Amino acid sequence: MLRIGVLVSGGGTNLQAIIDKVKSGEVSNTEIAFVISNNENAYALTRAQNAGIAAECVSPKKYASRAQFEEALLDTIDAYQVDLIVLAGFLVIIPEAMIKKYKNRIINIHPSLIPSFCGTGAYGLHVHEKALARGVKVSGATVHFVDEGTDTGPIILQKAVEIKEGDTPEVLQRRIMEQAEWIILPRAIDLIANGKVEVVDGIAHIIGE
Ligand code: GRF
Repeated sequence: MLRIGVLVSGGGTNLQAIIDKVKSGEVSNTEIAFVISNNENAYALTRAQNAGIAAECVSPKKYASRAQFEEALLDTIDAYQVDLIVLAGFLVIIPEAMIKKYKNRIINIHPSLIPSFCGTGAYGLHVHEKALARGVKVSGATVHFVDEGTDTGPIILQKAVEIKEGDTPEVLQRRIMEQAEWIILPRAIDLIANGKVEVVDGIAHIIGE
């Protein structure tokens, strides 16, 4: 059984997709051990509580320094002894100590087809603003392992989504969530839980599919 912890900052629709698919069995061999948010008002925490999952807030506001916050975050995560950490809309830069400790055991969902529209400053609606400003006809989402860079880790899954004439960043964001994020994030967890993802020389391979 793969024990996962999910880190969130906002509404938690990606978290909800994971919860629903673990419940339905579409994501197999997986147990959600905790949900942690940096934001105490995140609706994702309510979603976790409604599903009977341990939910905690580790807020930077409660600590005197960034280093203390990062230490508390890592201590809280370590206490749950999980196999995989899932960043599902977590708007905190992951401490380097955590990346080192959980190498190839942290995954993130990014709302574009990496390497387009990613890196520093490409989060939330900004990603979709950049895609529309460039006039691309296709965008999508990417699930990748987290390494020391920003959105540079091994790519596990991607799914393309069509851009339509007249799209606003908000409309595109919603379509990418519905047609890509809520599908490939749970799918990536299921693949990892069933031993089907292998990283060799910085490239993630899906095996036995
Ligand atoms: C998603 O668009 C995700 O790709 C991005 O933040 C958003 C999170 O949404 N990183 P939610 O909290 O899962 O609803």
